[in-house]
Order: sequence, then structure tokens, then C-alpha cells
Amino acid sequence: MIFGEILVACKSNQHNLFNWRHTLKKMKSREIVLRRRPVGIPEESDFLIVEVPRKEPGEGEILIRNIYISVDPYMRGRMVDRKSYTPSFQVGETITGGCVGQVVSSNVSEFQEGDFVLGFGGWREYYLSDGSDLTWVDADALPLQSYLGVAGMPGMTAYVGLLDIGQPQENETVYVSAASGAVGSIVCQIAKIKGCRVVGSAGSDQKVDWLIHELGVDAAFNYKKVADLSAELRKHCPDGIDIYFENVGGEHLQAVLDNMNAFGRIPVCGMISQYNLTEAQPGPTNLSSIIGKRLMLKGFLVSDHRERLPQFMKDMTGWIQSGEIKWKETILEGIENTPKAFIGLFKGENLGKMLVHLTPE
Ligand SMILES: NC(=O)c1ccc[n+]([C@@H]2O[C@H](COP(=O)([O-])OP(=O)(O)OC[C@H]3O[C@@H](n4cnc5c(N)ncnc54)[C@H](OP(=O)(O)O)[C@@H]3O)[C@@H](O)[C@H]2O)c1
Repeated sequence: MIFGEILVACKSNQHNLFNWRHTLKKMKSREIVLRRRPVGIPEESDFLIVEVPRKEPGEGEILIRNIYISVDPYMRGRMVDRKSYTPSFQVGETITGGCVGQVVSSNVSEFQEGDFVLGFGGWREYYLSDGSDLTWVDADALPLQSYLGVAGMPGMTAYVGLLDIGQPQENETVYVSAASGAVGSIVCQIAKIKGCRVVGSAGSDQKVDWLIHELGVDAAFNYKKVADLSAELRKHCPDGIDIYFENVGGEHLQAVLDNMNAFGRIPVCGMISQYNLTEAQPGPTNLSSIIGKRLMLKGFLVSDHRERLPQFMKDMTGWIQSGEIKWKETILEGIENTPKAFIGLFKGENLGKMLVHLTPE
């Protein structure tokens, strides 16, 4: 109604009309809301894009415009209504998560207009923060989006999982599943830096090619083309596996246990093959090999290792500068494509880190 009146008032003045429309548009923010809890692999219809008024920051608040949004496998777990290490998303609420953006206006003295920040505002164009969840990022040192990938949470997951839990020694064999993804691709390269023999698996020939020819892993295979995973691992790891960086679970874990060496270590980072199951699957039938081989399996959450952040940033920056660490990103454009990007994680549609880029109006 109000907009109709504005249209009439501005009928004779196209320039004013444009300004009004522009102002109204600018005062909105689009967000992605959980419409219903997904069953199995999520569908785009499980999400809804909504337009909400863009609030100005109040006392002690900062307004941030998102530039890159992260989609991550762990978010699938948060879409289930159950008690976990992190609270479930509620139906009707906007999905929260990692993002990098720029301060539009600030009523917090530490943050200035124009600052680039890493935050947790999630799947939305704009959000308000009191600053407690924000970290400055240096847009001159690294590309902005890398703070959500190689120099962010996935990179640090690779770092603490491999180095602190896996404890790699020179000449040991490290096997990495989901090896071409955000975490896996960094694990492969840190393991190479530490002098290990590295074997990776991924879900396409293109990914396998990248692992071998660009990341320099010693062997890699397309697990989707393999009939007997255990035999395939035996072929690529003739001296057995000393460290398995677990990203996938299910059949991968079963096949790995057949091939682990005595005193091997398994940092259990994720089990993405299990996240969309609608029925419980039987566990590995060879778990008892853990005893005879004296294996160590340890689940971990990167969020428990914040004290490692300064050392991680120092090492990672050095490795990036020396060219020892390379990375790729798969970037979809526009907030409306965020569900598609998220769902793509479970279909192997990403090479490296999956992200969404938002273009300013
Ligand atoms: N513990 C922690 O603190 C922590 C932190 C971050 C991530 N994680 C975990 O680390 C793992 C990797 O996360 P990420 O962010 O780096 O994701 P990502 O590897 O970049 O993307 C997910 C990849 O998983 C593979 N995948 C999907 N469904 C699969 C299935 N059913 N079987 C085998 N592979 C499948 C796909 O690659 P292919 O083409 O190779 O199939 C896909 O590209 C996930 O399990 C995640 O939950 C844990």
C-alpha cells in the first residue's frame, strides 16, 4: 500500500522513483530459512528464501554485509532434532554458520566501517553482531574466501587432526578419504610436507587427477569405480596404512581396518557417508582388529583446539607463501544458491572448499 502511494507520488519523476526503489531494496536482506527437516539427502525445497527488513545497528551493534558464505557437512547434523555438541537448527529459523563480510556501520569502537570480518551470521545477506563472534581478517594477506577454507576452519581441522592426533612420522603411509575436499586436500599436503607417503581417494577422475598432478600425492583412486575397496587400498598401500584420516566412514573404515599397520592412528574427523542415512547401517565387521593391531581411533572437533590457532596461522601462511600448500574453491553465485551449494557437498559437486559468493547490490 505504502509502496503504491510512493509510485503515484513519483509518477512524474523517474529519477526519484529509482531512488525510492533503490532505498527500499537496500533496506531488505535475504536469508535462507530451514523450511522442514530433511530426510535423506536434503532437497532445495527443505529451505526457503525470505526477505526481511534490514535493521540498522543499535547501541553496541555492528551491521555486516556478507561477501562469502560457507556451507559445511556438519550443518546436516544440525538439521536433525537431537541433542548434540552444537544446538539443532529450528524449523523457520535462518541457518547460521561461518561467513566473511564487511562492516557497513558500527556502534562498537573496535570495529570500523569497511573492516573485513569472519563471523557466524550464516546464510543471509546482512546481519547484526555485538562483535563477540567476529574476527578481523586481512584482505591484503590472503583472498577473503580463504578464511573460510585453507586459512580457516577446514584448514585448521586438517592441521590439528593430522598433526596433533595423527602424529605423522617421516616415511609413514597416510591414507585420506574425501581427499579432494576442503579438509582432505589440506591433510594430503601437510602429510607430504611432513615427509609421508600419501594416498587419497575421491569420487571422480578429475579429482583424482588434481590430487596426483597438482597436489603431488603419491597415489589416488576413484572409489566410485572400485569393486573391492580393501583390495584397492592394499594395491596403493603395499606397506600398509599408518594413519587413516577419516572423513567418510562406512565401507571406507571397514576397508581401512583390513589394511592398518600395528600402532596405526585414525583421527576421526567426519563420516559424511553416514549423515543422510535414513536407516542404521551395520558397523564394520572387523572392529576387533583394533585390539591386535593396537590402533588408536580418536574423534575430535576443531573447536576444542582453539589454542592451536596462532601456530596454525603461522605455519599455514608460511606454507602458502612458499607454495607448499595449494587449494581450490567451488563457488556458487548468489544467496539463492546456498541450499544448492550445501546439497552439492553430499553429491561430490565440489573440488576443494564449497562456498557461496554474494555480489553487493
Ligand atoms: N571434526 C571436525 O571438527 C570437522 C571439521 C570440519 C569438517 N569435518 C568433517 O570432515 C569431512 C570433510 O568435510 P569438508 O568440509 O572438507 O567437506 P568436503 O570434503 O569439502 O566436501 C564433502 C565431500 O565428501 C565427499 N562425499 C560426500 N558424500 C560421500 C559419500 N557418501 N561417500 C564418500 N564420500 C562422500 C564428496 O567428495 P567425493 O567426490 O570424493 O565423494 C564431497 O565433495 C566431513 O566428514 C566433515 O563432517 C569435521
